[in-house]
Amino acid sequence: MIRTPEALIPYIVAAACVVSGGLWHAAEELAPTNRIVTVGVPKVGGPFALLDQNGETRTDRDFRGRWMLIYFGYTNCPDVCPTSLALMSDVMTRLGGRAPRVVPIFITVDPDRDTPQVMKQYLASFGPKFVGLTGPKSHIASAASEYRVYVARRPAKDGGYAVDHSNVIYLMDPAGKFAANYDNSQGPEEIAADLKKRL
Ligand code: NI
Repeated sequence: MIRTPEALIPYIVAAACVVSGGLWHAAEELAPTNRIVTVGVPKVGGPFALLDQNGETRTDRDFRGRWMLIYFGYTNCPDVCPTSLALMSDVMTRLGGRAPRVVPIFITVDPDRDTPQVMKQYLASFGPKFVGLTGPKSHIASAASEYRVYVARRPAKDGGYAVDHSNVIYLMDPAGKFAANYDNSQGPEEIAADLKKRL
């Protein structure tokens, strides 16, 4: 509901993190030899071990051989998460026969409230293909850090809390490597067209 510039901050911060992450990576590679190294793909993503909405342990390795569309958010999110998940759902529909090659994954940044049962109920609105992941705080923090996701809890007016988070849909290739990122400024046609070129 609140579409103030404040709502954009997590995305901007995330973009900055991805950029600085890339630069940091470049500096690391430059340091030993002082040669110019071209950095191609940003260093985003990594291993995770979490629980799906059925309470089963899922790791990144379970999804090798398929493309992963990964979004970090939380079920109490007032607007950005539902918009992004609806977008991902729409993209999956547009992939038609190629959809089974892609697995849409929603990873919570609010594991205190988002139990597997809560995730299951929430994701039911977005179609049966979604894998919802939660787990111990440390595992969530580790996954968020690997994906350079900005997460910040803040008090909400109702006495509870909200979680500011970056708004990025990551595409990881069948080897688990970062391939692209999207967001909900793009339409489902555009994202589906880009995916179809890659699948
Ligand atoms: Ni959200």
